[in-house]
Amino acid sequence: MRVLSGIQPSGKLHIGNYFGAIAQMVKQQEEHDLFAFIPNYHALSGSVKLDDLEKNTIEAAIDFLSLGVDPNKTLFWVQSHVKEVLELYWILSRYTPVGLLERAHSYKDKVAKGIASSHALFSYPVLMAADILLYDAQIVPVGKDQIQHLEMTRDTAIKFNNEHGDIFTLPDALVVKELATVPGIDGAKMSKSYGNTIEIFMDEKPLQKRCNKIVTDSTPLGEPIEYEGNNVYALLCLFSTPTEIEELKVIYKSGELGHGHFKKILKDKIWEHFGEAREKRAYYLEHTDEVKEILNEGAKKASAIASKKMEIIREKIGIV
Ligand code: ADP
Ligand code: TRP
Repeated sequence: MRVLSGIQPSGKLHIGNYFGAIAQMVKQQEEHDLFAFIPNYHALSGSVKLDDLEKNTIEAAIDFLSLGVDPNKTLFWVQSHVKEVLELYWILSRYTPVGLLERAHSYKDKVAKGIASSHALFSYPVLMAADILLYDAQIVPVGKDQIQHLEMTRDTAIKFNNEHGDIFTLPDALVVKELATVPGIDGAKMSKSYGNTIEIFMDEKPLQKRCNKIVTDSTPLGEPIEYEGNNVYALLCLFSTPTEIEELKVIYKSGELGHGHFKKILKDKIWEHFGEAREKRAYYLEHTDEVKEILNEGAKKASAIASKKMEIIREKIGIV
């Protein structure tokens, strides 16, 4: 089974990115062929400052490696190192009705939030389809917000296949229900664009400060706290075993401890969970040449696959 996914290098990775995408990828690489890449062209669709793009790209790669993407098991590269993806993006545009793109929630949400509506933002799902179809990915682990993009990818692939034969593999999204939407500190979906994230690699003090900012109700100390719908509890569940969750519920119900106590436990859990990754990250930050070498090796292998696939596609559509 070929599994493929990536996260744009548009800012620091957060806990939502981890549970919604990276943790799934790391798991998949044990049993399947994982293709993991840094979609840096996609970052041109947003409002990030391009001065930081190069740095963000290498840092995203470092974060992936630190969090467990293993280059001995996984093909790992930077999107822009394999130019065929842009060629396929243009070709797929022919099979993508404007109406389909106009219905994209992600596009509509971003424009509603004031992000400038560029052609890059609008056609972003076509580039994503090219990423997936170029490598014949079968499974794409993502968070809930990306499901529609996967449906669009399938629609485009079906249209192409109907005209030219069975060229593209139809991919399926892999979304783990409980992890589909990790809440941010305000209870809305955790997202870089909402400014409500908890970054994976924060220092310990700022991490505690961030956890303290998580919005909770105003239950006074001494009264039981309702844990259903409580943002701290929802985040704690991600880092806890079922037994620990049961224990947490008992303490919440007892009313003996206030919200501050649970925010401290959350900080400790996050800090501990990413301890090993933090050490690896410190190493890679000092050895960026090693990271670039890993990415170059990945790009060579990805290029070989992409150029073969493009030959077939070009021939089918008469681009010679
Ligand atoms: P952001 O919303 O912060 O810009 P991206 O859109 O770059 O994040 O998402 C990168 C990956 O992480 C995608 O697969 C996305 O579905 C997943 N993801 C992002 N935020 C969350 C979240 N809050 N819960 C679960 N998965 C998420
Ligand atoms: N759209 C994804 C995100 O916002 C990034 C991405 C680009 C992607 N191409 C992809 C994810 C292909 C999975 C497969 O993070």
